[in-house]
Amino acid sequence: MKVLTTTIRGFEEYSAKEAELLNCSVVELRQARVLLEGNESCIYILNNYARTVNKVLILLSRETVDGLEDIYRKALSLDYTFISPDQSFAVRSERSGIHGFTSIDIARTVGQAVIDSYLKDKGSKIKVDLENPDVEIEADLIGNELFISLNTTGNGLNFREYRTYNHPSSLKPTLASSLVIMSQWDGSSLIDPFTGGATIPIEAALYAFSSPVKPSGNFSYKKLSFYDKFQEEMALKKIDKKFDIKEKIVGIEISRKHFTGALKNVSSAKLNEYIKIIHGDSINIDLQDRFKFLIANPPYGIRSGRKEKVLRIYELFVKRLDKVLEEGGEGVMITTEYKKLSDLLNQRGYRIIKVNTGLHGKLWVGAILFRS
Ligand SMILES: C[S@@+](CC[C@H](N)C(=O)[O-])C[C@H]1O[C@@H](n2cnc3c(N)ncnc32)[C@H](O)[C@@H]1O
Repeated sequence: MKVLTTTIRGFEEYSAKEAELLNCSVVELRQARVLLEGNESCIYILNNYARTVNKVLILLSRETVDGLEDIYRKALSLDYTFISPDQSFAVRSERSGIHGFTSIDIARTVGQAVIDSYLKDKGSKIKVDLENPDVEIEADLIGNELFISLNTTGNGLNFREYRTYNHPSSLKPTLASSLVIMSQWDGSSLIDPFTGGATIPIEAALYAFSSPVKPSGNFSYKKLSFYDKFQEEMALKKIDKKFDIKEKIVGIEISRKHFTGALKNVSSAKLNEYIKIIHGDSINIDLQDRFKFLIANPPYGIRSGRKEKVLRIYELFVKRLDKVLEEGGEGVMITTEYKKLSDLLNQRGYRIIKVNTGLHGKLWVGAILFRS
Protein backbone atom coordinates (compact mmCIF):
# COMPACT_ATOMS: atom_id res chain seq x y z
CA MET A 1 0.00 0.00 0.00
CA LYS A 2 1.34 3.47 -0.87
CA VAL A 3 0.90 5.97 1.94
CA LEU A 4 1.20 9.72 1.61
CA THR A 5 1.61 12.04 4.57
CA THR A 6 1.11 15.78 4.32
CA THR A 7 3.51 17.94 6.26
CA ILE A 8 5.15 21.38 6.43
CA ARG A 9 6.76 22.50 3.19
CA GLY A 10 10.54 22.73 3.64
CA PHE A 11 10.54 20.40 6.65
CA GLU A 12 9.67 17.14 4.88
CA GLU A 13 12.97 15.52 5.90
CA TYR A 14 11.93 15.59 9.59
CA SER A 15 8.60 13.91 8.80
CA ALA A 16 10.54 11.28 6.87
CA LYS A 17 12.87 10.78 9.83
CA GLU A 18 9.93 10.48 12.21
CA ALA A 19 8.20 7.95 9.94
CA GLU A 20 11.36 5.82 9.82
CA LEU A 21 11.55 5.96 13.63
CA LEU A 22 7.98 4.63 13.64
CA ASN A 23 9.10 1.75 11.37
CA CYS A 24 7.33 2.98 8.22
CA SER A 25 9.48 2.92 5.05
CA VAL A 26 9.98 6.22 3.29
CA VAL A 27 10.07 6.09 -0.51
CA GLU A 28 10.24 9.70 -1.61
CA LEU A 29 9.98 13.30 -0.44
CA ARG A 30 7.75 15.69 -2.39
CA GLN A 31 6.71 19.27 -1.69
CA ALA A 32 4.91 19.20 1.70
CA ARG A 33 4.45 15.45 1.25
CA VAL A 34 6.24 12.24 2.17
CA LEU A 35 5.54 9.09 0.21
CA LEU A 36 5.81 5.81 2.13
CA GLU A 37 5.33 2.12 1.53
CA GLY A 38 3.39 0.36 4.26
CA ASN A 39 0.43 -1.66 5.43
CA GLU A 40 -2.58 -0.95 7.64
CA SER A 41 -0.35 -0.96 10.78
CA CYS A 42 1.54 1.96 9.31
CA ILE A 43 -1.75 3.88 8.87
CA TYR A 44 -2.67 3.29 12.53
CA ILE A 45 0.80 4.17 13.82
CA LEU A 46 1.27 7.34 11.76
CA ASN A 47 -2.16 8.70 12.66
CA ASN A 48 -1.67 8.05 16.34
CA TYR A 49 2.00 8.93 16.82
CA ALA A 50 3.41 11.06 13.99
CA ARG A 51 3.68 14.58 15.41
CA THR A 52 5.01 16.26 12.24
CA VAL A 53 2.17 15.05 10.02
CA ASN A 54 -1.11 16.79 9.24
CA LYS A 55 -2.90 14.01 7.33
CA VAL A 56 -2.21 10.38 6.53
CA LEU A 57 -3.56 9.37 3.13
CA ILE A 58 -3.68 6.12 1.18
CA LEU A 59 -2.46 6.94 -2.31
CA LEU A 60 -4.84 5.62 -4.97
CA SER A 61 -3.13 7.16 -7.97
CA ARG A 62 -0.38 9.57 -8.92
CA GLU A 63 -0.37 10.75 -12.52
CA THR A 64 0.82 13.58 -14.69
CA VAL A 65 -2.24 15.43 -15.99
CA ASP A 66 -3.00 18.04 -18.60
CA GLY A 67 -6.14 20.02 -17.73
CA LEU A 68 -9.51 19.24 -16.16
CA GLU A 69 -10.67 16.76 -18.82
CA ASP A 70 -7.56 14.70 -18.25
CA ILE A 71 -8.15 14.88 -14.48
CA TYR A 72 -11.67 13.52 -15.05
CA ARG A 73 -10.38 10.65 -17.24
CA LYS A 74 -7.68 9.65 -14.74
CA ALA A 75 -10.09 9.83 -11.79
CA LEU A 76 -12.75 7.84 -13.69
CA SER A 77 -10.35 4.94 -14.29
CA LEU A 78 -9.95 4.24 -10.55
CA ASP A 79 -11.86 1.71 -8.46
CA TYR A 80 -13.99 3.23 -5.68
CA THR A 81 -15.95 0.07 -4.81
CA PHE A 82 -14.27 -0.03 -1.37
CA ILE A 83 -16.91 2.58 -0.44
CA SER A 84 -19.98 0.71 0.73
CA PRO A 85 -23.37 1.66 -0.81
CA ASP A 86 -24.63 3.11 2.49
CA GLN A 87 -21.62 5.44 2.86
CA SER A 88 -21.37 9.03 1.67
CA PHE A 89 -18.28 10.69 0.22
CA ALA A 90 -16.74 14.10 -0.54
CA VAL A 91 -13.72 15.22 -2.55
CA ARG A 92 -11.35 17.86 -1.16
CA SER A 93 -8.64 19.46 -3.24
CA GLU A 94 -5.45 21.47 -2.79
CA ARG A 95 -3.54 23.02 -5.64
CA SER A 96 -0.05 24.45 -5.96
CA GLY A 97 1.33 25.93 -9.18
CA ILE A 98 -0.16 27.88 -12.08
CA HIS A 99 -3.38 26.46 -13.57
CA GLY A 100 -6.34 27.91 -15.46
CA PHE A 101 -8.79 26.48 -12.92
CA THR A 102 -9.29 26.40 -9.15
CA SER A 103 -9.10 23.67 -6.53
CA ILE A 104 -12.93 23.82 -6.36
CA ASP A 105 -13.01 22.90 -10.08
CA ILE A 106 -10.70 19.94 -9.38
CA ALA A 107 -12.88 18.74 -6.46
CA ARG A 108 -16.03 19.02 -8.59
CA THR A 109 -14.44 17.18 -11.54
CA VAL A 110 -13.06 14.33 -9.44
CA GLY A 111 -16.35 14.13 -7.51
CA GLN A 112 -18.22 13.60 -10.79
CA ALA A 113 -15.69 10.96 -11.87
CA VAL A 114 -16.19 9.07 -8.57
CA ILE A 115 -19.99 9.10 -9.04
CA ASP A 116 -19.68 7.91 -12.67
CA SER A 117 -17.10 5.23 -11.90
CA TYR A 118 -19.14 3.89 -8.96
CA LEU A 119 -22.32 3.76 -11.05
CA LYS A 120 -20.46 1.84 -13.77
CA ASP A 121 -18.87 -0.68 -11.35
CA LYS A 122 -21.64 -1.14 -8.77
CA GLY A 123 -24.74 -0.11 -10.68
CA SER A 124 -25.80 2.23 -7.88
CA LYS A 125 -25.47 5.92 -7.17
CA ILE A 126 -23.12 6.96 -4.38
CA LYS A 127 -24.22 9.67 -1.92
CA VAL A 128 -22.39 12.99 -1.70
CA ASP A 129 -22.09 14.71 1.69
CA LEU A 130 -19.80 17.72 1.65
CA GLU A 131 -20.33 18.53 5.35
CA ASN A 132 -19.84 15.22 7.09
CA PRO A 133 -18.81 12.48 4.66
CA ASP A 134 -17.99 8.91 5.69
CA VAL A 135 -15.21 8.76 3.12
CA GLU A 136 -13.06 11.70 2.10
CA ILE A 137 -11.09 11.61 -1.13
CA GLU A 138 -8.26 14.09 -1.66
CA ALA A 139 -7.36 15.25 -5.16
CA ASP A 140 -4.25 17.41 -4.95
CA LEU A 141 -2.59 18.96 -7.97
CA ILE A 142 1.07 19.89 -7.43
CA GLY A 143 2.38 21.40 -10.67
CA ASN A 144 1.10 18.90 -13.25
CA GLU A 145 1.12 15.94 -10.88
CA LEU A 146 -2.25 14.76 -9.59
CA PHE A 147 -2.37 12.78 -6.34
CA ILE A 148 -5.70 11.05 -5.66
CA SER A 149 -5.85 9.59 -2.19
CA LEU A 150 -8.05 8.47 0.65
CA ASN A 151 -8.01 10.46 3.88
CA THR A 152 -7.51 8.15 6.88
CA THR A 153 -7.13 10.97 9.42
CA GLY A 154 -10.23 13.13 9.16
CA ASN A 155 -9.60 16.69 10.32
CA GLY A 156 -5.89 17.44 10.21
CA LEU A 157 -3.63 16.50 13.11
CA ASN A 158 -2.43 20.12 13.21
CA PHE A 159 -5.35 20.64 15.55
CA ARG A 160 -4.19 19.46 18.98
CA GLU A 161 -6.75 18.58 21.60
CA TYR A 162 -4.60 19.96 24.48
CA ARG A 163 -4.65 23.51 23.05
CA THR A 164 -7.05 25.34 25.30
CA TYR A 165 -5.26 28.68 24.81
CA ASN A 166 -4.65 29.86 21.25
CA HIS A 167 -1.71 32.25 21.04
CA PRO A 168 -2.28 34.72 18.15
CA SER A 169 1.11 33.83 16.58
CA SER A 170 1.29 30.22 17.62
CA LEU A 171 3.53 27.83 15.79
CA LYS A 172 1.81 24.92 14.08
CA PRO A 173 2.38 21.98 16.43
CA THR A 174 3.58 19.90 13.45
CA LEU A 175 6.26 22.52 12.78
CA ALA A 176 7.19 22.70 16.48
CA SER A 177 7.69 18.92 16.41
CA SER A 178 9.78 19.20 13.25
CA LEU A 179 12.05 21.65 15.11
CA VAL A 180 12.38 19.19 18.00
CA ILE A 181 13.56 16.51 15.57
CA MET A 182 15.82 19.02 13.79
CA SER A 183 17.49 19.92 17.12
CA GLN A 184 18.15 16.23 17.88
CA TRP A 185 17.03 16.89 21.46
CA ASP A 186 17.73 13.84 23.63
CA GLY A 187 15.85 14.62 26.86
CA SER A 188 18.57 16.78 28.45
CA SER A 189 18.00 20.41 29.46
CA LEU A 190 15.90 22.39 26.98
CA ILE A 191 14.73 26.02 26.94
CA ASP A 192 12.22 27.91 24.80
CA PRO A 193 12.95 31.58 25.60
CA PHE A 194 9.95 33.01 23.64
CA THR A 195 7.42 30.40 24.60
CA GLY A 196 4.05 32.07 23.79
CA GLY A 197 1.43 29.37 24.39
CA ALA A 198 4.18 26.76 25.09
CA THR A 199 3.74 24.80 21.85
CA ILE A 200 7.45 23.92 21.66
CA PRO A 201 7.87 22.62 25.26
CA ILE A 202 4.61 20.64 25.01
CA GLU A 203 5.41 19.10 21.62
CA ALA A 204 8.93 18.26 22.82
CA ALA A 205 7.65 16.43 25.91
CA LEU A 206 4.93 14.57 24.01
CA TYR A 207 7.50 13.58 21.36
CA ALA A 208 9.83 12.15 24.04
CA PHE A 209 6.98 10.13 25.53
CA SER A 210 5.54 9.02 22.15
CA SER A 211 2.18 10.26 23.41
CA PRO A 212 -0.88 9.83 21.19
CA VAL A 213 -1.35 12.88 18.95
CA LYS A 214 -5.15 12.72 19.13
CA PRO A 215 -6.11 11.13 22.46
CA SER A 216 -9.82 11.04 21.51
CA GLY A 217 -8.89 8.52 18.78
CA ASN A 218 -11.38 10.11 16.43
CA PHE A 219 -9.90 9.04 13.07
CA SER A 220 -11.69 8.54 9.78
CA TYR A 221 -9.86 5.24 9.13
CA LYS A 222 -12.39 3.73 11.56
CA LYS A 223 -15.03 4.10 8.85
CA LEU A 224 -12.93 2.46 6.13
CA SER A 225 -13.45 -1.17 5.09
CA PHE A 226 -9.95 -2.38 6.09
CA TYR A 227 -10.31 -1.22 9.72
CA ASP A 228 -9.65 -3.95 12.27
CA LYS A 229 -9.72 -2.95 15.95
CA PHE A 230 -7.56 -5.85 17.11
CA GLN A 231 -4.91 -5.19 14.46
CA GLU A 232 -4.96 -1.51 15.43
CA GLU A 233 -4.35 -2.34 19.11
CA MET A 234 -1.49 -4.69 18.22
CA ALA A 235 0.15 -2.05 16.00
CA LEU A 236 -0.14 0.73 18.58
CA LYS A 237 1.26 -1.46 21.36
CA LYS A 238 4.59 -1.65 19.55
CA ILE A 239 5.41 2.02 20.05
CA ASP A 240 7.59 2.76 23.10
CA LYS A 241 8.57 6.08 24.60
CA LYS A 242 11.63 7.53 22.87
CA PHE A 243 13.59 8.78 25.89
CA ASP A 244 13.20 10.15 29.41
CA ILE A 245 13.06 13.84 30.15
CA LYS A 246 16.03 14.27 32.47
CA GLU A 247 15.41 17.89 33.48
CA LYS A 248 12.32 20.09 33.39
CA ILE A 249 11.83 21.85 30.06
CA VAL A 250 11.78 25.63 30.61
CA GLY A 251 9.68 28.19 28.72
CA ILE A 252 9.98 31.96 29.25
CA GLU A 253 7.22 34.38 28.28
CA ILE A 254 7.18 38.15 28.79
CA SER A 255 3.45 38.77 28.40
CA ARG A 256 1.26 37.92 31.40
CA LYS A 257 -1.64 36.97 29.13
CA HIS A 258 0.42 34.49 27.10
CA PHE A 259 2.17 33.22 30.25
CA THR A 260 -1.24 32.38 31.76
CA GLY A 261 -2.26 30.78 28.45
CA ALA A 262 0.94 28.70 28.37
CA LEU A 263 0.20 27.42 31.91
CA LYS A 264 -3.30 26.41 30.76
CA ASN A 265 -1.94 24.49 27.77
CA VAL A 266 0.72 22.74 29.86
CA SER A 267 -1.95 21.71 32.38
CA SER A 268 -4.37 20.47 29.77
CA ALA A 269 -1.55 18.41 28.20
CA LYS A 270 -0.93 17.00 31.73
CA LEU A 271 2.73 18.02 31.63
CA ASN A 272 3.11 20.16 34.79
CA GLU A 273 5.64 17.67 36.10
CA TYR A 274 7.92 18.12 33.08
CA ILE A 275 7.56 21.76 32.00
CA LYS A 276 8.22 24.95 33.93
CA ILE A 277 6.92 28.23 32.49
CA ILE A 278 8.54 31.42 33.79
CA HIS A 279 6.92 34.83 33.46
CA GLY A 280 9.92 36.98 32.49
CA ASP A 281 12.09 38.70 29.93
CA SER A 282 14.56 36.29 28.36
CA ILE A 283 16.91 39.16 27.52
CA ASN A 284 17.39 40.21 31.13
CA ILE A 285 16.54 37.13 33.14
CA ASP A 286 19.22 35.55 35.35
CA LEU A 287 19.09 31.82 34.83
CA GLN A 288 20.69 29.55 37.43
CA ASP A 289 21.92 27.01 34.86
CA ARG A 290 22.73 27.02 31.20
CA PHE A 291 20.92 24.69 28.79
CA LYS A 292 22.14 22.02 26.42
CA PHE A 293 19.33 22.67 23.91
CA LEU A 294 17.39 25.74 22.86
CA ILE A 295 14.41 25.84 20.50
CA ALA A 296 12.95 29.29 19.88
CA ASN A 297 10.26 31.00 17.86
CA PRO A 298 10.90 34.69 18.59
CA PRO A 299 8.46 37.42 17.48
CA TYR A 300 8.62 38.43 13.78
CA GLY A 301 7.21 41.95 14.15
CA ILE A 302 4.86 41.41 11.19
CA ARG A 303 1.57 41.73 13.07
CA SER A 304 2.79 44.59 15.25
CA GLY A 305 4.51 46.26 12.26
CA ARG A 306 7.62 46.85 14.37
CA LYS A 307 10.36 44.95 12.60
CA GLU A 308 13.10 47.29 13.86
CA LYS A 309 12.13 46.60 17.46
CA VAL A 310 12.13 42.87 16.82
CA LEU A 311 15.59 42.96 15.22
CA ARG A 312 16.83 44.78 18.30
CA ILE A 313 15.39 41.96 20.46
CA TYR A 314 17.30 39.43 18.32
CA GLU A 315 20.51 41.43 18.71
CA LEU A 316 20.18 41.66 22.49
CA PHE A 317 19.16 38.01 22.81
CA VAL A 318 22.09 36.72 20.71
CA LYS A 319 24.45 38.84 22.85
CA ARG A 320 23.14 37.05 25.94
CA LEU A 321 23.00 33.60 24.40
CA ASP A 322 26.26 32.48 26.03
CA LYS A 323 24.49 32.86 29.41
CA VAL A 324 21.63 30.64 28.19
CA LEU A 325 23.28 27.94 26.09
CA GLU A 326 26.08 25.67 27.31
CA GLU A 327 29.41 25.41 25.50
CA GLY A 328 28.76 22.88 22.70
CA GLY A 329 25.01 23.37 23.15
CA GLU A 330 22.66 23.17 20.18
CA GLY A 331 20.02 25.72 19.16
CA VAL A 332 17.19 25.98 16.63
CA MET A 333 15.57 29.34 15.99
CA ILE A 334 12.77 29.92 13.50
CA THR A 335 11.75 33.29 12.10
CA THR A 336 10.89 35.15 8.92
CA GLU A 337 14.05 37.23 9.58
CA TYR A 338 16.32 34.21 9.43
CA LYS A 339 18.99 35.86 7.25
CA LYS A 340 19.51 38.71 9.71
CA LEU A 341 19.42 36.29 12.65
CA SER A 342 22.00 34.01 10.95
CA ASP A 343 24.32 37.01 10.50
CA LEU A 344 23.95 37.95 14.16
CA LEU A 345 24.69 34.36 15.26
CA ASN A 346 27.70 34.18 12.94
CA GLN A 347 29.08 37.46 14.23
CA ARG A 348 28.91 36.13 17.81
CA GLY A 349 30.87 33.02 16.80
CA TYR A 350 28.03 30.46 16.62
CA ARG A 351 28.44 27.80 13.98
CA ILE A 352 25.46 27.56 11.62
CA ILE A 353 24.95 23.89 10.86
CA LYS A 354 21.99 24.19 8.51
CA VAL A 355 18.98 26.31 7.60
CA ASN A 356 15.62 24.86 6.52
CA THR A 357 13.38 27.33 4.75
CA GLY A 358 9.69 26.63 4.27
CA LEU A 359 6.11 27.78 4.56
CA HIS A 360 4.40 28.40 7.87
CA GLY A 361 0.84 29.24 6.84
CA LYS A 362 1.41 32.04 4.33
CA LEU A 363 4.77 33.12 5.75
CA TRP A 364 8.13 32.10 4.38
CA VAL A 365 10.27 31.17 7.40
CA GLY A 366 13.76 29.83 8.03
CA ALA A 367 14.81 27.53 10.88
CA ILE A 368 18.47 27.87 11.78
CA LEU A 369 20.31 25.00 13.48
CA PHE A 370 23.44 26.28 15.20
CA ARG A 371 26.02 25.16 17.72
CA SER A 372 27.71 27.16 20.43
C1 LIG B 1 6.08 34.06 17.90
S1 LIG B 1 5.52 34.10 19.54
C2 LIG B 1 5.81 32.45 20.11
C3 LIG B 1 4.64 31.56 19.84
C4 LIG B 1 4.83 30.18 20.40
N1 LIG B 1 5.87 29.45 19.71
C5 LIG B 1 3.50 29.41 20.34
O1 LIG B 1 3.38 28.48 19.52
O2 LIG B 1 2.57 29.76 21.05
C6 LIG B 1 6.78 34.98 20.36
C7 LIG B 1 6.51 35.20 21.84
O3 LIG B 1 7.68 35.79 22.42
C8 LIG B 1 7.25 36.65 23.47
N2 LIG B 1 8.37 37.57 23.77
C9 LIG B 1 8.76 38.68 23.10
N3 LIG B 1 9.85 39.21 23.67
C10 LIG B 1 10.17 38.43 24.72
C11 LIG B 1 11.18 38.46 25.71
N4 LIG B 1 12.11 39.44 25.73
N5 LIG B 1 11.23 37.50 26.65
C12 LIG B 1 10.29 36.52 26.66
N6 LIG B 1 9.28 36.45 25.76
C13 LIG B 1 9.22 37.37 24.81
C14 LIG B 1 6.01 37.30 22.89
O4 LIG B 1 5.18 37.83 23.92
C15 LIG B 1 5.36 36.14 22.14
O5 LIG B 1 4.42 35.49 22.95
